[in-house]
Amino acid sequence: MLTWDDEVKPTPPTPSFGAPQFGGRQDVVSSFAGREAPLALAGIATVPATPAATQVPAAASSVQSSSQRRVQAADKRIINGQTDVNQLVPFKYKWAWEKYLATCANHWMPQEVNMTRDIALWKDPNGLSEDERRVIKRNLGFFVTADSLAANNIVLGTYRHITAPECRQFLLRQAFEEAIHTHAYQYIVESLGLDESEIFNAYHEVPSIRDKDQFLIPFIDAIMDPNFHTGTPENDQTLLKSLIVFACLMEGLFFYVGFTQILALGRQNKMTGAAEQYQYILRDESMHCNFGIDLINQLKLENPHLWTADFKAEIKSLFQKAVELEYRYAEDTMPRGVLGLNASMFKGYLRYIANRRATQIGLEALFPNEENPFPWMSEMIDLKKERNFFETRVIEYQSGGALSWD
Ligand SMILES: [Fe+2]
Ligand SMILES: [Fe+2]
Repeated sequence: MLTWDDEVKPTPPTPSFGAPQFGGRQDVVSSFAGREAPLALAGIATVPATPAATQVPAAASSVQSSSQRRVQAADKRIINGQTDVNQLVPFKYKWAWEKYLATCANHWMPQEVNMTRDIALWKDPNGLSEDERRVIKRNLGFFVTADSLAANNIVLGTYRHITAPECRQFLLRQAFEEAIHTHAYQYIVESLGLDESEIFNAYHEVPSIRDKDQFLIPFIDAIMDPNFHTGTPENDQTLLKSLIVFACLMEGLFFYVGFTQILALGRQNKMTGAAEQYQYILRDESMHCNFGIDLINQLKLENPHLWTADFKAEIKSLFQKAVELEYRYAEDTMPRGVLGLNASMFKGYLRYIANRRATQIGLEALFPNEENPFPWMSEMIDLKKERNFFETRVIEYQSGGALSWD
């Protein structure tokens, strides 16, 4: 159960006058910039971010504002809203605000986690098997860039199209958490002294990772296109599809082989620092996924005409494709059984998760009667930070500096 600290008080929004400035090009991901685009990343590297949904009513920057009708909660909309996006209150989407508070209460930083035991184990020639090392490297190979993709999707894509300020508030927090996750993966890579070039280029060079990213990127590019605006059924469906791909298939499915593998290591008392970091990340991602699903369902509620039979069929085929890609990634990372896991166990798990995501957004289960082969993963999501499952020492992040292991 997710909780939040009662002491986290809502902060009154800072008034903002005048349209936000988004002028010029935005550098997207430094790791993408200037590349030859083997991943067809050209769009993501070059698209300038021009906002569509920064609609500040003329009143917001005008002395005539007092004559304008004040924001009414009932007038707010998830997309294509006409109310002032700078006014957080009056609240309409309280679930979004509450999830924002909950994510803040879960705040953590990678340096809190002691990596000393992981480092000793990694350096010990007999500490880990070759298969275990492969799992770890492939795992980080996906994650070190995945959360940058997620962050860019939010900041340069999703955010500008969402007209509910409560939801934007969550997205801002989510974007920061994606930065923390990228930081955490980098921290693990650095701690273990891994070949940074190998790990950070895996999404170009390892087919099972590249294929997952290639699947995702068109859905980012579509909503980042400066000429893309919501307001037509077709474009609104494009945005809805992008939201579904990110919440249900990226954060809700593509992360799960990787999370399970590292947490399985932790359960065997191996790589406990990394496992603890993944545990916090899993908790964050679970919240992102749940927020995304609430956002999707609210958008559907307000725009039922988007949920056509053809659209549902397209979404189902994307689910099928994503399960297939994630399963191939499982096979690639675990060519043999390791840690009591093997790729075929993940076939059932991925189908189980896909069913859950599908039903959460109002689709029928794609693979009826699948059961969860890893019930312990559910416990991981619910653990509170204080329980410190892997018994690594958590320090207060306010006072903790970077760890030293020289
Ligand atoms: Fe993340
Ligand atoms: Fe996320």
